[in-house]
Amino acid sequence: MNVAILSDIHANFDALSAVAAELARRRPDRIHHLGDLAGYNAQPEECVRWAMAHAAAGVSGNHDAVACGRATGRNFHAAARKAALWSRDRISPEGRDYLSGLPVQRFIEGGAMLVHGAPSEPGRYVDSVDHADQELSTLFASVATGPIFFGHTHEAGGFVRRRGGRVESVPAREFRLLPGERALLNPGSVGQPRDRDRDASFLLFDTDDGKVTWVRVPYDVEAARRKVLDAGLPREFADRLRDGT
Ligand SMILES: [Fe+2]
Repeated sequence: MNVAILSDIHANFDALSAVAAELARRRPDRIHHLGDLAGYNAQPEECVRWAMAHAAAGVSGNHDAVACGRATGRNFHAAARKAALWSRDRISPEGRDYLSGLPVQRFIEGGAMLVHGAPSEPGRYVDSVDHADQELSTLFASVATGPIFFGHTHEAGGFVRRRGGRVESVPAREFRLLPGERALLNPGSVGQPRDRDRDASFLLFDTDDGKVTWVRVPYDVEAARRKVLDAGLPREFADRLRDGT
């Protein structure tokens, strides 16, 4: 079975539409998401609706928790909180119900697991070999027999613990988990990439042979930027789309 994993769509429907067109060409059997459908950009309701219609499974991101009223966002920096609350005011009751019902982690086919930030905590960043080493040592992580898919950092790639125990970075190209290894893999962000490549990012996971392939998709960044500015959302979020940061 071929599974597409999308993360951190962040209300960027221009990016999501381009990814959806790519998915229509590649025809995965299932689509899953890792949360943060809302926040930062200008089209949260469209992105939530798309996930409701097309995603087989998903988990809740920290911005979704604020956008559905499950969290206050007091721990966010001011601009991010402003955008999350802006999303909250524009999501329909059906969308809010959907976001409220998302779990913080779940298993999918191939023994793989979905989390937003880290297996130990949805709001934690796995952004270094040391952090990955800690997370791969948790009991929680040991339950997954396949890769653990995570988002939150908006950087495509990940980490693998080799059989000997050494943890290494995984570049966002192609990867296959070998017996006795554990991996934390990040599809990158659809709606606000921060790895200096402004193209939308996602990955495909073949549950039959375990192969993971990252995909980048160019989209109309200017259209998404214009919507952020026209909505009166913080300018820095328009700039991040242009710069891929
Ligand atoms: Fe995010």
